[in-house]
Amino acid sequence: MIHHFTVFKSIKFFFLFCTLAFLSHVTFADPPYEVCSTRKVYANQSSFENNLSNLLLSLPSNVSTSISKFGNTSSGIGLDRAYGLYMCLDFVSNETCHKCVTNAISDVVKLCPQSEEAVVYEEFCQLRYSNKNFIGSLDVTDNIGKDNVQNISEPEKYESAVNKILNNLTKIASFNVSSNMYATGEVNFEDKTIYALVQCTRDLSDTNCSRCLLSAIGDIPGCCYASIGARVWSRSCYLRYEFYPFYLGETDQTSSSAKQGRKNNSSKIWMITSIAVGVGLVIIIFICYLCFVRNKGIWQSNKISKDFPFFDLGSLCVATGDFSNSNMLGQGGFGPVYKGILSDGMEVAIKRLSTCSEQGSEEFINEVMLILKLQHKNLVKLLGFCVDGEEKLLVYEYLPNGSLDVILFEQGAQLDWAKRVDIINGIARGILYLHEDSRLQIIHRDLKASNVLLDYDMNPKISDFGMARIFAGSEGEANTATIVGTYGYMAPEYAMEGIYSIKSDVFGFGVLLLEIITGKRNTGFYYSKSTPSLLAYAWHLWNEGKGLELRDPLLLCPEDQFLRYMNIGLLCVQADAFDRPTMSSVVLMLMNESVTLGLPEKPPFSVGRLNVNDPNVLDSEDCSVDYNFLTVSDILPLQCP
Ligand SMILES: *[C@@H]1O[C@H](CO)[C@@H](O)[C@H](O)[C@H]1NC(C)=O
Ligand SMILES: *[C@@H]1O[C@H](CO)[C@@H](O)[C@H](O)[C@H]1NC(C)=O
Ligand SMILES: *[C@@H]1O[C@H](CO)[C@@H](O)[C@H](O)[C@H]1NC(C)=O
Ligand SMILES: *[C@@H]1O[C@H](CO)[C@@H](O)[C@H](O)[C@H]1NC(C)=O
Ligand SMILES: *[C@@H]1O[C@H](CO)[C@@H](O)[C@H](O)[C@H]1NC(C)=O
Ligand SMILES: *[C@@H]1O[C@H](CO)[C@@H](O)[C@H](O)[C@H]1NC(C)=O
Ligand SMILES: *[C@@H]1O[C@H](CO)[C@@H](O)[C@H](O)[C@H]1NC(C)=O
Ligand SMILES: *[C@@H]1O[C@H](CO)[C@@H](O)[C@H](O)[C@H]1NC(C)=O
Ligand SMILES: *[C@@H]1O[C@H](CO)[C@@H](O)[C@H](O)[C@H]1NC(C)=O
Repeated sequence: MIHHFTVFKSIKFFFLFCTLAFLSHVTFADPPYEVCSTRKVYANQSSFENNLSNLLLSLPSNVSTSISKFGNTSSGIGLDRAYGLYMCLDFVSNETCHKCVTNAISDVVKLCPQSEEAVVYEEFCQLRYSNKNFIGSLDVTDNIGKDNVQNISEPEKYESAVNKILNNLTKIASFNVSSNMYATGEVNFEDKTIYALVQCTRDLSDTNCSRCLLSAIGDIPGCCYASIGARVWSRSCYLRYEFYPFYLGETDQTSSSAKQGRKNNSSKIWMITSIAVGVGLVIIIFICYLCFVRNKGIWQSNKISKDFPFFDLGSLCVATGDFSNSNMLGQGGFGPVYKGILSDGMEVAIKRLSTCSEQGSEEFINEVMLILKLQHKNLVKLLGFCVDGEEKLLVYEYLPNGSLDVILFEQGAQLDWAKRVDIINGIARGILYLHEDSRLQIIHRDLKASNVLLDYDMNPKISDFGMARIFAGSEGEANTATIVGTYGYMAPEYAMEGIYSIKSDVFGFGVLLLEIITGKRNTGFYYSKSTPSLLAYAWHLWNEGKGLELRDPLLLCPEDQFLRYMNIGLLCVQADAFDRPTMSSVVLMLMNESVTLGLPEKPPFSVGRLNVNDPNVLDSEDCSVDYNFLTVSDILPLQCP
């Protein structure tokens, strides 16, 4: 018999699923999209309201006289001053721009009544106002990403091509003054052509434009993975790519919006009604299904939906040969990892979490559902999970090339300089995504070579992210929790005071960078008693102006580039977290050689036990070491049904 409790829970999951499915449908609707400050509203008949309406009234005439597709303006004085900004996509005609801004003005008043600040995104323009002066400052919160409804068959390859062209365009728009912060480009992909466009609001500085676009590029995997096209709207920039030249000529624009399928209100209502009816029917069928199924657990197969991230224990047992030792890939920080082959032939890696978490199943599921939304080509993809009694398992994509530490420290010759540069850049992008994804800031806490896996093309993918949350819930993010970490990669403020911030991850990244360019482990590196780690040795050479001596003599690489990377690595491992750059600056420094680098301060030498005598002391699977607050319980053999 199925317990009522289980039925109740399953129905809850099902509602969650329906909600998600429902939301993903609604997002296909077309612009306008708005972001309003619903909490901060201005009073009726206030001076701000007066100044704002003057501002909005004057804008259309400004648009027609403005020499560019961009304008900022303000109205009033003092605290009641209203600031406004509009941007039309650079390719549209003056008339389209004028019409678009006029529509935006009436939309913003309707969609964000009485908001102190608001932005509205239309198909060809965006309009923003506020009671604070935002001109010239970057804002990448609440970006909106929309996919093109059609999917591509080889998403990995496609995303990589898209990334390349968008990065190229970002450089042009940001750093080539004659570009006016706008760039378009095309590149062939198989038998098709990718057309891409990026644009920043022209009040930004070059580096802020670049930051904005990089952040928007970072949003693509989350909103639009596998889609043939995408648009990302941000308060400070915009990007889009498609398989057709949407930016050539106005006729293309109209057909493009026709292709997108402009939906009016009545069709939205129709859609919502039909979805609601559909959902209702499915729930009834589902409840009947529950009444007839006996004693087998609910999510016994993935029949309900292929994309639904629940796996049942039985199918994972089959996939791994009852979790046989021969299928064990290794012992990760949170439990053993097994290779499995699902019934459809897909290879996966299955991590069985040590049963020492105090977290309840529901909290666990909530956290996993959040982590599931993180998708980036430099993160190992989480496919789903299984909860069965005390057992908690996570199912990941399987990566055949294993982890970076094996390839780097044991088979280093495989990695030439260009590949190493790619790997460093990929890791930096992955961390940047974790840190700056607007919805969920993730601090990794245990960045190290063994937590970077490599795919067929040796692209790096970070693993074990979000484990702090999965184990400890969102409180795992708090500074006080004493959590994982591997000596040698651990930032001093964490090793000594248990304070963790994104800057502690930057430290771990710096260590990793220095390891990658030298092929040597930080711990386990002997130079002399006084400089017992790679960090110390690198700093010592740098300070003496002999940085090049750090190079692996067998590795051919340009001297200036080596020194630049060494400099960036040393900037990341500075003792004071405040002095370390953020990941967005790191990505920028790596990407753009014209960005001048600061001079690094001395890294911490004696911190934690950066001690060569016990390398990787903390790299243990014993959860009492990983989490001081967890109780140890022996890992019993898994009981397959
Ligand atoms: C302001 O006035 C509008 C109508 O003029 C009304 O709908 C709204 O509720 C009023 N808001 C406040 C905060 O008084
Ligand atoms: C907008 O128009 C007003 C007057 O209509 C003018 O004072 C202001 O300078 C204009 N702003 C821009 C950005 O053209
Ligand atoms: C659009 O406006 C700008 C600035 O007023 C002007 O230089 C340009 O010729 C106009 N373009 C068209 C197509 O009217
Ligand atoms: C637009 O912003 C710039 C920079 O803040 C400022 O100098 C200029 O006066 C603004 N233009 C208007 C019309 O307010
Ligand atoms: C701003 O609002 C105040 C108070 O209503 C008004 O006196 C002032 O003229 C307004 N300024 C502009 C430029 O509209
Ligand atoms: C970049 O934007 C930030 C706000 O996000 C601002 O404080 C900073 O001054 C801007 N940088 C430049 C060089 O304009
Ligand atoms: C496209 O792919 C996404 C995610 O892989 C999926 O949710 C969606 O249903 C697919 N859409 C189509 C039309 O196949
Ligand atoms: C990006 O730029 C590089 C160098 O400028 C060039 O070699 C490459 O072909 C460009 N890639 C794309 C996709 O435009
Ligand atoms: C900047 O852009 C202009 C026009 O698009 C182009 O002619 C020039 O070569 C570019 N400069 C650089 C340094 O790429």
